[in-house]
Amino acid sequence: MAKINENYLKLPGSYLFSTIAKKVSEFQEANPDREIIRMGIGDVTRPLVPAVIEAMHKAVDEMGTPEGFHGYGPEQGYDFLRNKIVEHDYAELGIEPDEIFVSDGAKSDCGNIGDIFGADNKVAVCDPVYPVYVDTNAMAGRAGDFDGERWSNLYYMPCTAENGFMPELPKEKVDMIYLCFPNNPTGETLTKDQLKLWVDYARENGSVILYDSAYEAFITEEDVPHSIYEVEGAKEVAIEFRSFSKTAGFTGTRCAYTVVPKALKIGGTGLNGLWNRRQCTKFNGVPYVIQKAAEAVYSDEGQKQIRANIEYYLGNAGIIRTALEKAGLEVYGGVNSPYVWAKAPNGMKSWDLFDKLLNEAGVVTTPGSGFGPSGEGYIRFTAFSTKENTEKAMEKITAIL
Ligand code: MLT
Repeated sequence: MAKINENYLKLPGSYLFSTIAKKVSEFQEANPDREIIRMGIGDVTRPLVPAVIEAMHKAVDEMGTPEGFHGYGPEQGYDFLRNKIVEHDYAELGIEPDEIFVSDGAKSDCGNIGDIFGADNKVAVCDPVYPVYVDTNAMAGRAGDFDGERWSNLYYMPCTAENGFMPELPKEKVDMIYLCFPNNPTGETLTKDQLKLWVDYARENGSVILYDSAYEAFITEEDVPHSIYEVEGAKEVAIEFRSFSKTAGFTGTRCAYTVVPKALKIGGTGLNGLWNRRQCTKFNGVPYVIQKAAEAVYSDEGQKQIRANIEYYLGNAGIIRTALEKAGLEVYGGVNSPYVWAKAPNGMKSWDLFDKLLNEAGVVTTPGSGFGPSGEGYIRFTAFSTKENTEKAMEKITAIL
């Protein structure tokens, strides 16, 4: 008889954002006339910028000609895009095009990267945390058992207001460390000196850092690193994930990339080669049309246009921060990030506040406890709505808080 991967049976009912989507559609069904403003999942609302659309159209037309047609592309991504990524994002950091792997999303890569790591690695995650890191390690059998709050084999690093949302270095030896900065969900960042502590820890302990910098384009402050490779020695210990989703509105278009430096080795085995082997076997590359669209993000026009959208979203984050602070809430994030993390008033639980905001204001948020036990008592807002809806949502929320 065939056997299933029993690790899947240990997972809690559904993925966080699916649970929320289900709750919202039930609410909508029960209240068909109520307006709903979505500030839950971090999905963009601004259309793709003209430079991207133009490149996409051109690529579609090419595909209709014998000379311009493209079949299977390189699994690692076309050189035109890998070169542009290096030129724009990593020129001074010594990363080379063959260390860039273009993919259909940072979510997929963060989840799939576990394929090249053994099942008995000790995994450290921040708490609260983007649930993909946790759930995919549970699927791979690295997380142990779930007690309704925590997984028995994961090493949790609480990030709370008390420690400035900064994870502390593990007190025991861990092998794989997931870090996400600017952070999802708290929206907080760390300095280069703080990041260096992690690189040093990984170098001393033979650990690998899985660094999710999907939100780096939202950094506005000095001394906040955009890439872990800004820290010397990081190439020997870190993999970095980046995405066009939030940077350029590609959530529905799908394009991202992962950096696996050739200097990163475990016991003499290079992870670049392993990841390449994995991708060539399980992935057929991102469509030519999409990679052409992504390339256009790096043109002068493209850069100007996507920056305008990022500023727009950061403006919304400012609106959220100001309104919630005025309502007397403790508010974090939203300065270098599209996420605003707020403490629920009067000791309210995350899901209770989620329900209140949905039922009384028609606003969808994400309950902090969905990101881990240390997220209890917090709620996350995204700045990806329209300005009009952001203002409307804040009016409604402040009226009921
Ligand atoms: C989030 O809301 O945390 C993100 O949008 C989810 C994702 O990027 O997959």
